Amino acid sequence: MASLNDIRSTFLDYFKSKDHLIIPSSPLVPKDDPTLLFVNAGMVPFKNYFTGAEAPPAPRAASSQKSVRAGGKHNDLDNVGYTARHHTFFEMLGNFSFGDYFKEGAIEHAWALLTKEFKLDPDRLLVTVYHTDDEAHGLWKKIAGLPDERIIRIATADNFWSMGDTGPCGPCSEIFYDHGAHIAGGPPGSPDEDGDRFVEIWNLVFMQYEQFLDGSRVDLPRPSIDTGMGLERIAAVMQGVHDNYDVDLFRALIQASREAVGGAGGGANGPSHRVIADHLRSTSFLIADGVSPSNEGRGYVLRRIMRRAMRHAHLLGAEEPLMHRLVPALVEQMGAAYPELKRAQPVIEETLRQEEERFRRTLGRGMALLDEATAKLEAGGVLSGETAFKLYDTYGFPLDLTQDAVRAKGLTVDLDGFEAAMREQRERAREAWTGSGAVAQAAEWFAIRDRLGPTVFSGYDQIEDMGELLALVDQGQEVDEAQAGQTVQAIFDRTPFYAESGGQAGDQGEAEWPGGHGRILDVQKQAGDLHVHVLQVLEGVLKPGARVRLAVDAERRASTRSNHSATHLLHAALRNVLGHHVSQKGQMVDGERIRFDFSHGQPLTAEEIDRIEAEVNAVIRQNLPAKTEVMAPEAAIEAGAMALFGEKYGDTVRVLTLGQALGGEGAYSVELCGGTHVSRTGDIALFKIVSEGGVAAGVRRIEALTGEEARRFLLEQAAVARGLAEQFKVPVSEVAARVEALEAQRRRLEKELGEAKRQLAMGGGSGGGGGAVEEVGGVQLLARVMDGVGGKDLRPIAEEFKKQVADGVIALVGVADGKAAVTVALTGSAKDRLSAVDLAKAAVQAMGGQGAGGRPDFAQGGAPDGSKAAEGVAAVKAALAG
Ligand code: ALA
Repeated sequence: MASLNDIRSTFLDYFKSKDHLIIPSSPLVPKDDPTLLFVNAGMVPFKNYFTGAEAPPAPRAASSQKSVRAGGKHNDLDNVGYTARHHTFFEMLGNFSFGDYFKEGAIEHAWALLTKEFKLDPDRLLVTVYHTDDEAHGLWKKIAGLPDERIIRIATADNFWSMGDTGPCGPCSEIFYDHGAHIAGGPPGSPDEDGDRFVEIWNLVFMQYEQFLDGSRVDLPRPSIDTGMGLERIAAVMQGVHDNYDVDLFRALIQASREAVGGAGGGANGPSHRVIADHLRSTSFLIADGVSPSNEGRGYVLRRIMRRAMRHAHLLGAEEPLMHRLVPALVEQMGAAYPELKRAQPVIEETLRQEEERFRRTLGRGMALLDEATAKLEAGGVLSGETAFKLYDTYGFPLDLTQDAVRAKGLTVDLDGFEAAMREQRERAREAWTGSGAVAQAAEWFAIRDRLGPTVFSGYDQIEDMGELLALVDQGQEVDEAQAGQTVQAIFDRTPFYAESGGQAGDQGEAEWPGGHGRILDVQKQAGDLHVHVLQVLEGVLKPGARVRLAVDAERRASTRSNHSATHLLHAALRNVLGHHVSQKGQMVDGERIRFDFSHGQPLTAEEIDRIEAEVNAVIRQNLPAKTEVMAPEAAIEAGAMALFGEKYGDTVRVLTLGQALGGEGAYSVELCGGTHVSRTGDIALFKIVSEGGVAAGVRRIEALTGEEARRFLLEQAAVARGLAEQFKVPVSEVAARVEALEAQRRRLEKELGEAKRQLAMGGGSGGGGGAVEEVGGVQLLARVMDGVGGKDLRPIAEEFKKQVADGVIALVGVADGKAAVTVALTGSAKDRLSAVDLAKAAVQAMGGQGAGGRPDFAQGGAPDGSKAAEGVAAVKAALAG
């Protein structure tokens, strides 16, 4: 039986043999497009090759593309677990022609692959074509010899494929597999086409047009081909099963899930294991491509998928967090085809474990609430929006998780009610700013914001501006004036001062008005978009209404810009060097330095750090202009998750593009960012990492410097090296070798010293411990006090002395650092008659210690007072003398 991995290889090998360039799957997070949620079809990474915006690397290509359809426009999340063919993650096999072959070539390849390579029964295949596409109809007849009734003309959008509202599009032809009359369902275009008998396996799109937002459509430079075949579906057909979840890969994952839960699974638990197996794939691949769970955008989609799976794990009775334990099974199945999965395995496991632990804290209570709320509802009933909102807000249940949970009982959720509750809560949150202290102040800020409107920020293009002072706040109260010496909070109608946000520190600078001036120490953001300046009046009196010249400290701003832009480059370099699982976990940039936290499972090697620095500096040297695009969030952010949860976005979003990909096409870094940035990458001048370390499980931190700070750092390092060179009297280049030689010498001397001490100790005793072997109570005894010998050195000495005492007792008391250590060893027949432990104990107790331990013929102990060593030896003698 061909495994899923075999089928993928057969597909790619076939097209490779037909002169197609095999292109590895692109990451799930679309490159250079922070506005598209996820890659959801094989052609997405090739969009620009179709439209002619970019030159393709070859006229023909093929790929197996990771795709996620959850959240946004294509959302299959709700169905997963309950149907035979829905997935949040799937692989799309596709062959592409960029102006090379067209309909005839596409149909020839598809037919040859299916019937010759995959050896599907031609009688079970049928196709659809767009109703006006006589050419495709004729080609299917000619190439495949299909009779007219198995070439079905479809007039609907089903057979006209477009990427989205804009982009490449064209008529398409779909290939169906007939699972047989024993399964209900009719052929495509028939009233019961939604049945399961005829399953679409491959879509051939004849790309001919580019669609624009205004509705117009132009011909593509050259007609092209885009095809898509779901790997899981074709695997089901080839493995003779009807359900995608019965293919080998899913069986293995479901088996792993069953074993991890410990229950029998199957039966009524079927959907839960399917959900877990599917969601394990999407969440692991998303994390591997740098998405982390969060409360907005892509991160929220990930969290929703994770939590949905985690509820099902809970439902199955899993006592411990489950998902992270399944990752090895997934890596075993898919790690060879997708090495990024293996690379990111520690981060995936850690992210899943942490999220599941967090969610488990509220999951049980949330489920209890849900059970209570649904207990009285009958099938067809509706769960109130308020309950769904409470579950969301208090217990962390994403809405679709609640929908999924009530679905089993045949219930639905009042969505309008949910949204109304969400709106209400926001209102309440605003009104609830009453009370004292900081809270009262927050209420003030909202009041001020409502009265004055947002602060206009002019600092993207300039660092000096005139602003009218609109309000002064002192200790949470609005005031009419501020005197010299006072530090107050000032709000202007417009300002070039950046307010701390997105990990970039607030600006500092000067304020000047007729009759006075002051210093701006910091700027914070309040009530969303008020820039609140912390202003110290140095001279004169400041009153609302004043026209104030606001001047940002140019140097600090310039280095903050450099640091912020360099942080974007660092982020991109980390992903290039370490893998796409790297994502930002936090950052802080100011005029001095960069601090960047990111997801990664292990410490960076010196070589990796070197490569990262080299990349960033190479992009700096490109010295290309930074490009900022300002767009409305609707244009920039796919509807759905972002719209509901991305409240942070204001009227516009900024998309920053820096540099050019090294050795490739496209940009080096593209990110959504509201911060201030350099005009050209060359402005950063120099980038240097100064430290790397771990801050939490799966999270690392890099600190770095740019420009003058980086230069100074390197200078200081050089000065240290020069100082050492002078001290050692060697050139700087030889300092390392010299230190190494010294270190080797130190180790050798240490060893020699230990040896010398041992020899010395053996050669003669001191401190009145006695010397040679004597006889006490009829037993041979060699007893000694050894100055400067610690406990661990006594053992080899005792071993050595055994040569001198063939039948008797060796009792050694070492004194080091004021403490005493005792070793007693027995040889010959003394072993049968005496106890080394007892003798050692006698010595230890005589010196004020507690006890000793070891074997009957070898014991050790210690005592706090080394000055009593002689008494220790005497105690041994006394014990032997009986
Ligand atoms: N792009 C086409 C699809 O996704 C092949 O169906």
